[in-house]
Amino acid sequence: MSYRLSAIGYRLSAEGKIVNLTLHVWRQAGPNSPGHMVRYDAPDISADMSFLEMLDVVNERLIERGETPIAFDHDCREGICGSCSLMINGAAHGPNPGTATCQLHMRSFRDGQEITIEPWRAKAMPVVRDLIVDRSALDRIIAAGGFISAPTGCAPDGNSILIGKHLVDTAMDAAQCIGCGACVAACPNGSASLFTAAKITHLGLLPQGQPERLRRARRMVTQMDIEGFGGCTLFGECQEACPKQISIDTITMMNRDFLRAALVPEAATGAESD
Ligand code: SF4
Ligand code: FES
Repeated sequence: MSYRLSAIGYRLSAEGKIVNLTLHVWRQAGPNSPGHMVRYDAPDISADMSFLEMLDVVNERLIERGETPIAFDHDCREGICGSCSLMINGAAHGPNPGTATCQLHMRSFRDGQEITIEPWRAKAMPVVRDLIVDRSALDRIIAAGGFISAPTGCAPDGNSILIGKHLVDTAMDAAQCIGCGACVAACPNGSASLFTAAKITHLGLLPQGQPERLRRARRMVTQMDIEGFGGCTLFGECQEACPKQISIDTITMMNRDFLRAALVPEAATGAESD
């Protein structure tokens, strides 16, 4: 017996204990190998398990049978590191809004459900193996300018600068980005605009981020293009997929800073950071 949890049809197991699932998992031996979906039965899964714990159980069973376990990425398992990047039934991070894959529990699936599990699909984030993709392009966008190199003093100095609450709240909302890449995977253009905009916004709104503000926007957006991410046409899928619910408004701020940076010479867009 189960009951409807939401209008879009997620169900809880009323017993809250065990679900029997059928998985269809993308298996790919390496970056240059062809991949394909493989069907696995996953019986007797506790509804209290996280999605990654369910995969752990499946892998233990595969190992017991002498089969190769499913490769998937993970680290913190508490919604912080952004490693757990899975497309679950066609949705980045699965069916629950504002929830990273590691925070998704099997009670969100109904007994007997079939679940497809695929890696992120984006030209700039190629598959490494099975469900693991190379997200280093996002790191290179950060390295291009997602930092403050101007002297900012120590914590007491920071605390002595009064900043309006609205600005702080907006900056901290943007700072929640965990670099998971769900926004890229969900975007029909494969754009990393929400990720890049979140990083630009959280630094660009605070006083400490002002000296390099325009240079940061110019360099990070340029690096995003170099990495092969697509352009933003404001579909809004990124905002829906983001486990930290970063607002698409950050893209407006990024575009504004990038345009302002384009109007002045590179040397005038911020403090030297190299
Ligand atoms: S903006 Fe959201 S979806 Fe994109 S990388 Fe950051 S946390 Fe992930
Ligand atoms: S494993 Fe770190 S966010 Fe999911």
